[in-house]
Amino acid sequence: MSPSSYPDVMEKLVSLCKRRGFIFQSSEIYGGTGSVWDYGPLGVELKRNIKDRWWNAMVRSRDDIEGLDAAILMHPKVWEASGHVAGFTDPLIDCHNCKKRFRADDPKIKGTPGAPDAQCPACGMKGTLSEPRMFNLMFKTFMGPVEESASVVYLRPETAQGIYVNFLNVQQSTRQKIPFGIAQIGKAFRNEITPGNFIFRTREFEQMEMQFFVDPDGDHMQWFEYWKAQRMAWHRALGLTEARLLFHQHTLEELAHYARAAFDIQFDFGGTLGFQEIEGVHHRGDFDLGRHQEYSGKKLEYFDQPNNRRFVPFVVETSVGADRTALAVLVNAYREETVEGETEGRTVLGLHPSLAPIKAGVFPLVKKDGMPEFAERLAADLRTSFPVFYDESGAIGRRYRRQDEVGTPFCVTVDGQTIADGTVTLRDRDTLAQERVAADRVGAVIAERVAE
Ligand code: GAP
Repeated sequence: MSPSSYPDVMEKLVSLCKRRGFIFQSSEIYGGTGSVWDYGPLGVELKRNIKDRWWNAMVRSRDDIEGLDAAILMHPKVWEASGHVAGFTDPLIDCHNCKKRFRADDPKIKGTPGAPDAQCPACGMKGTLSEPRMFNLMFKTFMGPVEESASVVYLRPETAQGIYVNFLNVQQSTRQKIPFGIAQIGKAFRNEITPGNFIFRTREFEQMEMQFFVDPDGDHMQWFEYWKAQRMAWHRALGLTEARLLFHQHTLEELAHYARAAFDIQFDFGGTLGFQEIEGVHHRGDFDLGRHQEYSGKKLEYFDQPNNRRFVPFVVETSVGADRTALAVLVNAYREETVEGETEGRTVLGLHPSLAPIKAGVFPLVKKDGMPEFAERLAADLRTSFPVFYDESGAIGRRYRRQDEVGTPFCVTVDGQTIADGTVTLRDRDTLAQERVAADRVGAVIAERVAE
């Protein structure tokens, strides 16, 4: 893979995210938990906005997709049927000396693991690396008071299976006709061996998945193409730069055990990371419903009444990570620039206004002459419609910069003229243009631009 032409902003982003309350390392005061992250006050808003956009596009605005919130813990047989117990594995190598673990394909390993010439990439010892063994990525826990093999349950590694096992419950309760879909947003867990790159690959993450059930004797490849196009359009509408997005078709070797065909939507994260998967669109055939029929002994057939046929539908899946999308959005939005006529540059998160955690900063120009009182009243009023940050501390330029850095698309300043004629200045984060708007209209103007 050739390195990206976009800069590597990850280190700066990790620091900004911590400093400004987007994302913190989990359990930081104890030294952190490996590849688990917590979303702070601004991060939780950003991720919620991403999830809302997905839910609106996939569920609320359509009459052929139903929502679901299935539990994380499921019957252990689900994971036998899905193929995860047998096949959701990565080859793993242990170092007997330093106890570190590596994926067998780690390019830093020199020599043949298991042989005396193999050198550990962490401690440098020779002959201490084990032969590769298969390591299952599912987290295990126990249900009930007894910790024995009979009570093992798994933390789900994908949300999709909750949808398959509820296929008939949803279809029969909603009386949906094929083709139709079921969508879910929820946590998934994978004991990744080589996690990293901030929130790109973590051990606990959120997925936004939709399974679309189609007639196996119908136009299922057309639906596959339809969902590829829909999902790419969704990423573009988030503001991700077109040149940073592409489709990658899975080769036969890359195809997951359940897939007949698969395309990744990849985003260019910049630097050496470059293009990486953010979403998968998979043609899963009847693999999952077929296997659940086999393992549960229950029929999962759709009854096509007009034609008096019963069949197990094919599935087209769209599966995107909420956290990975948040990272793509942040990387895409991060920029440092010089400002004409100013010595200090600025850092900007050029987030799409609908994704920005704070929609408007509200400031009194100075802390006197009734300006703070007016601005505080205005902020409270605007807060009934969208998130607002009130700030009266420091020079006005610094207050603008603080909002630019967290992606706030608009700043409203109350000044001397406000008290005289009831107008405020409305500043645009990207163009830096300032216009005078009546204070009692500014909320509507901002709401309109956020919705664009
Ligand atoms: N149900 C299909 C499925 O889970 P996947 O390609 O393994 O497919 C789908 O995962 C998406 O979930 C990925 O494109 C990515 O956005 C997200 N994802 C997967 N593993 C992840 C991890 N360890 N950390 C963060 N996001 C992850």
